[in-house]
Amino acid sequence: MPHSHLALARPTLACMKTIALPSGEKVPALGQGTWNMGDRTATRAEEIAALRMGLDHGLALVDTAEMYGDGRSEKLVGEAISGRRDEVFLVSKVLPSNASRRGTLEACENSLRRLATDRIDLYLLHWRGNVPLAETLEALLALRSSGKIRHFGVSNLDLADIKEFTSLPGGEEVATNQVLYNLSRRGIEWDLLPWLRAKRIPAMAYSPLEQARLVEHPGLRDFAENNGMTASQAALAWLLVQDGVIVIPKTGNRKRLSENVAALRTTLDESQLKALDALFPPPKRAKPLEML
Ligand SMILES: NC(=O)c1ccc[n+]([C@@H]2O[C@H](COP(=O)([O-])OP(=O)(O)OC[C@H]3O[C@@H](n4cnc5c(N)ncnc54)[C@H](OP(=O)(O)O)[C@@H]3O)[C@@H](O)[C@H]2O)c1
Repeated sequence: MPHSHLALARPTLACMKTIALPSGEKVPALGQGTWNMGDRTATRAEEIAALRMGLDHGLALVDTAEMYGDGRSEKLVGEAISGRRDEVFLVSKVLPSNASRRGTLEACENSLRRLATDRIDLYLLHWRGNVPLAETLEALLALRSSGKIRHFGVSNLDLADIKEFTSLPGGEEVATNQVLYNLSRRGIEWDLLPWLRAKRIPAMAYSPLEQARLVEHPGLRDFAENNGMTASQAALAWLLVQDGVIVIPKTGNRKRLSENVAALRTTLDESQLKALDALFPPPKRAKPLEML
């Protein structure tokens, strides 16, 4: 690696915000998503290069799932982190249709094989399906006892569901709830996010760029241009300001990765935050959790 590259990477690492999990372990507030990665041969090498460049910049939390490309995303992540496993905080997810006690254990083994590793750092129930939460939780606790996973969590659970999960024996140790959260999807600010904060459970904001739709948002583009940043940097910097929120944008492209990494150095003052509130108003009433 050329020295100039290292010299560039260090300041970024120095300004990486971290978020404490309930166990006290700290993870980077800016990570990397991988949905749709590994689906096309033509873009595979660039996707791997982008993920590795993300690691160089300290975006060590990598989020994947058995669902993504039917295992193709996990395979690509396994290749991207090969030789660098200890740098990475690896997140994967079990599908609700596999989330029985036995099914979860099998799904985890399959994910470990595709990821070419012996442990997943954080294993999530992808969303609530027909299997009782207590049964999935039992499997997650067993996986943690055997060292196959280090932490467990959930995804797409609205307030009533996460309350139910945390009231189960062991459920209070849930390490995150990964949910849709971005400037255009602020519903969780009404009740779910304050509840998670009170319990010191980090939220993990997925689709932070609203799957690139925010990048094209005319109002956000104007705001960004007037404030010397790009729309993607504004969207990510706004999420990074929020307490207890981990942010996992996906890009399979090194140029866009560099642009997104710069969000770590993008500050937003009170008047800029007010302008964003005017463009994307906070919720005025409770709303069911949205999913993508
Ligand atoms: N738990 C769940 O149910 C759930 C649901 C959805 C997502 N997720 C996780 O969250 C991650 C992120 O969400 P997401 O992938 O849905 O959406 P996202 O991160 O909001 O947006 C990704 C899209 O934005 C593009 N993009 C990224 N940076 C850009 C930039 N600087 N300029 C222009 N375009 C840019 C990407 O294209 P390029 O790659 O071509 O740059 C991609 O099309 C996922 O990858 C996945 O790991 C979880």
